[in-house]
Amino acid sequence: MTATTTGGLFVVFDGGEGAGKTTQLDRLAYLLLEAGKTVTVTREPGHDTALGTAIRRLLLEGTPGDIPARAEALLFAACRADHIHHVIVPALERGDIVLCDRYADSSIAYQGFGRRLGPGQVGWISDWATENLVPDLVVLLDVDPQTGLARAKRTGPADRFEQEELEFHRLVRQGFLTRAHSCPDRYLKLDAADSPDVLAAVIAARVMTLIEERARRRPEPAKVIYMSDRSPRCERQT
Ligand code: TYD
Repeated sequence: MTATTTGGLFVVFDGGEGAGKTTQLDRLAYLLLEAGKTVTVTREPGHDTALGTAIRRLLLEGTPGDIPARAEALLFAACRADHIHHVIVPALERGDIVLCDRYADSSIAYQGFGRRLGPGQVGWISDWATENLVPDLVVLLDVDPQTGLARAKRTGPADRFEQEELEFHRLVRQGFLTRAHSCPDRYLKLDAADSPDVLAAVIAARVMTLIEERARRRPEPAKVIYMSDRSPRCERQT
């Protein structure tokens, strides 16, 4: 399953701690709403389902080392399976533009690279959990970990990931950059140090282009009208 097979558009914002994803996601959501689009805004890990919220608490509370890396990877995958089942796929099937704060690339960067479980295996678990639901676009906000962590820690007490050593966050950044490099068409890699206005304009331009391309390429849905028991006639919907 890919987002392309549904009617909607799936855009993910990802990056390290304190990259400014949420600010940019909110700005894009507002712009799309102004343009008359139907937008679903959601985030990982777990905010919008009961199971997700429970798993989120398990994952973020405590101190580094509390949860074995493999258990952590499986919890994120379980959270994602629940998220796509209850929130993302239904929204895409309605034809919404789905803006999601973090998705599979976070697992590959944090668990695959940061925890050194390897991007291949973590990617496989995530693909299995999501039935290969791939975003149409990943906006990657690349931030220097030292700068990002300082910014994140100003917003409240450090969670289990923010308490990790700088080296962990350096590996995470390397993970994100490796992903973006491997598939430049699907990633919009931006320097989070650029001005928020500049970033918002670049993101908006890319997403609007994607929406226009999609509208041009997607054939109108066909419907079948049964004229008699045995002679179906296919028509284009108006
Ligand atoms: P959160 O409080 O949602 O903050 P933010 O997205 O603003 O950083 O924290 C989620 C944390 O979980 C964050 O440190 C990244 C981490 N994470 C993973 O390690 N793997 C994952 O698959 C996801 C989705 C998040």
